[in-house]
Order: sequence, then structure tokens, then C-alpha cells
Amino acid sequence: MNSSVKKTIPELMGRKGSTQPGTPKKISMVTAYDYPTALLADQAGMDLLLVGDSLAMVVMGYDSTVSVTMEEMLHHAKAVRRGAKNAVLVGDMPFGSFQTGPDEAIRNAVRYLKEAGMDAVKLEGGQHQAHIAQALVRAGIPVMGHIGLLPQLVSQMGGFKVQGRDAAGAQKLLDDARALEEAGCFAIVLEAIPDRLAGLITRSLRIPTIGIGAGVECDGQVLVFHDLVGLYDRFTPRFVRKYAQAASVMSQALIDYKNEVEAGQFPGPEHSFTIKDDVLETLYGEK
Ligand code: KIV
Repeated sequence: MNSSVKKTIPELMGRKGSTQPGTPKKISMVTAYDYPTALLADQAGMDLLLVGDSLAMVVMGYDSTVSVTMEEMLHHAKAVRRGAKNAVLVGDMPFGSFQTGPDEAIRNAVRYLKEAGMDAVKLEGGQHQAHIAQALVRAGIPVMGHIGLLPQLVSQMGGFKVQGRDAAGAQKLLDDARALEEAGCFAIVLEAIPDRLAGLITRSLRIPTIGIGAGVECDGQVLVFHDLVGLYDRFTPRFVRKYAQAASVMSQALIDYKNEVEAGQFPGPEHSFTIKDDVLETLYGEK
């Protein structure tokens, strides 16, 4: 468990350059979607909690992140806020909440800050979305960028594929990253890109990079909570390390409970409440 120190965006930005030995420690980020996951991640000392639109898949059971709405994201973000005390909280802008233009993007991002208590928002997209990121930053909303594999555009990208493997693709990602830095983003997520390209992008920026499937040279790392603890069974990307097998622990608990209920072994006396004999006698006239 970690001591209670509220983290800040400037403090995290100061961790830039953690790729060199002897420099500040790297930035840790994980997704959270509800009160208990936020509480656990915050108590573990996580720097950033992302209310990711991945909740469409890992919590709501959709096949992609496209379906989740702003209202649904806010509902989860509020629960995360109640569980987290110290981490910087980032609300993911769902598909359709920012693409129509800066006005709607600001309106939705403001809701994250005012209604759900988020500290910042994240949006997917590089050069094409830099003007939206800039408008949000100018409106006083801290923005985290997200480039590389963009799950909201997964059908356009031909599936969950590594990005930036050829020269043109790699150059585009470098240009995307620079455009987002120029727009005022305080950090950028790099998803599913080759490790040395992520290293090059990281070194070419003044703001931190947070990698997911982007190798160890980023300034920080992010994973989806359900992947990390082993709670999502449909698909595990190669870049995930499962730190636990939560699904099998939970599944065994449910089987044990069901069996004990059926066998009359639960509840035991220790889970039951007593009543005095004389009180019962007044009801039934017997002990
Ligand atoms: O929604 C999400 O979980 C994300 C992470 C993959 C960065 O955007």
C-alpha cells in the first residue's frame, strides 16, 4: 500500500526522460471502470487511472469500443472518482464525442471534469485531431493524446494490428506525436507500435509517452485492468502480461458457494444471527 500523496499532472510530466538509468521512475497507468477497481489501483499507488472506452469490451461485452456512449462513460467515471484519492484521473472521449468539432468536444470534456471529477481527458487520433486537442487545452482541459493502433478506428485499420512498421507509417506516427505535443497535450499514449520507433518518438518529445504494446523505452506504461488481472477471456493481446488469474479465482469462489448452498453448508452459525429463547416463545409458544 502506498502513502497518501495526491499526484498531479505537472509532477508526472516532470518524470519525462525516465528511459535513462538514474532518472525519475516511470509512469504507471491502468484502466479502471468502477469503485472497487479504482480503489485497488489507487491503493496500489498507480499514477494515472484511465476510464478507458475499452470498458465497452471488457465490462459491457461489445465486440469493439465504438458503441459506448458519453453517458455510459460518465456513469463509470463517477464511480472511479469515488474510489480514487491520489491518482490522476483521465476520462476517455468515446467515439462520436469529439469528432464532430471543437464545440461538442469541449462540451463533453467539460462534463468529464465537472460531473465526474476527472482531471483530464484522452482522445484518439494524431494530426487529424490535433485541432480538437488544441481547442480543449485552450479551454483549460488537460489532454492526453493517443496514437498508433486506434481501437475506435479498428475496422478502418483492418483489425487490431501493429502500426508504423513501414517507413511511411513510422514517419506518420512521428508527425502525429509532434502535432499533439504542439497542440498542448501533456502526454501521449503509444499503442501497438514497434519498440524502437516508440523509443525514437519518446526521445523526440518533451512530453511523456505512455506505451501499451510499444516496448520499454516509453516514459510509462498502461494496461487494461481486466487483461492485467486475467479477467477478460475473449482475447489477450501479445503485449499483455497477466499478473494474476482472477477469472479462475473468482470462478472457483462461485462454484464453491453454489455447492455449499446446495449442500446446506452455507450459511454457518458464524454467518447467522441469534434470538433469545424467551422472545421466540412469545411468537410460537415453544423453544
Ligand atoms: O480504452 C482504453 O483502455 C485505452 C487504453 C488501451 C490506452 O485507450
